Amino acid sequence: MTEPTEPDRNCNLCPRLHAFIASHRETHPDWHNAPVGTFYPKDGPGSVRFLIVGLAPGLRGANRTGRPFTGDFAGDLLYGTISRHGFSRGAFAARPDDGVQLIETAITNAVRCVPPENKPVGAEINTCRRFLSASIQAMPRLRAILTLGKIAHDSTVRTLGERVAAHPFSHGGRTFAGGFTVFSSYHCSRYNTNTGRLTEEMFANVFKDIAAFLK
Ligand code: URA
Repeated sequence: MTEPTEPDRNCNLCPRLHAFIASHRETHPDWHNAPVGTFYPKDGPGSVRFLIVGLAPGLRGANRTGRPFTGDFAGDLLYGTISRHGFSRGAFAARPDDGVQLIETAITNAVRCVPPENKPVGAEINTCRRFLSASIQAMPRLRAILTLGKIAHDSTVRTLGERVAAHPFSHGGRTFAGGFTVFSSYHCSRYNTNTGRLTEEMFANVFKDIAAFLK
């Protein structure tokens, strides 16, 4: 039997995350407030050559809108950068109905539910890995994966059946794991850009490398 690529809407595998979402269903009934599914190009997972793996939905971003990286600062930087490097078409307007179309690219998260303070715990990362794994297996043309931040990187390396010690996270890094070329970047969070850990130029350079690799 093939594993599901996404948790169901009321997934209770991580009780803490389930309770966190339930509390926001009470206070913000107009929000998405559920696991956030992978954003695919219009031809679906079979057309994906490049997968971007984030950490987890932001509370007022993807958890509100229902599309990865949509509605918060991290998404403004990510969608702007992918568009400039030819991985999407259409004007990003921070809404799931803005018409943005990904080109042979998918965007997902290592953890599909919003965690308190943007910090999933180890057990949640491990539990949610089954969905990342099934998602990757459903992409037969996949060649390149970009991991955003160390948590997404380490979970992706484990998903690919490899040891993190053999593939340590580094900004601008590139490694070959589980049959895929894995690129890594600091996460495009507001915190990282405000503190200067990640500049727009550093982020753009990672996408330049990936575009050249996929050519
Ligand atoms: N939004 C997401 O979907 N993922 C992140 O990692 C950050 C913001």
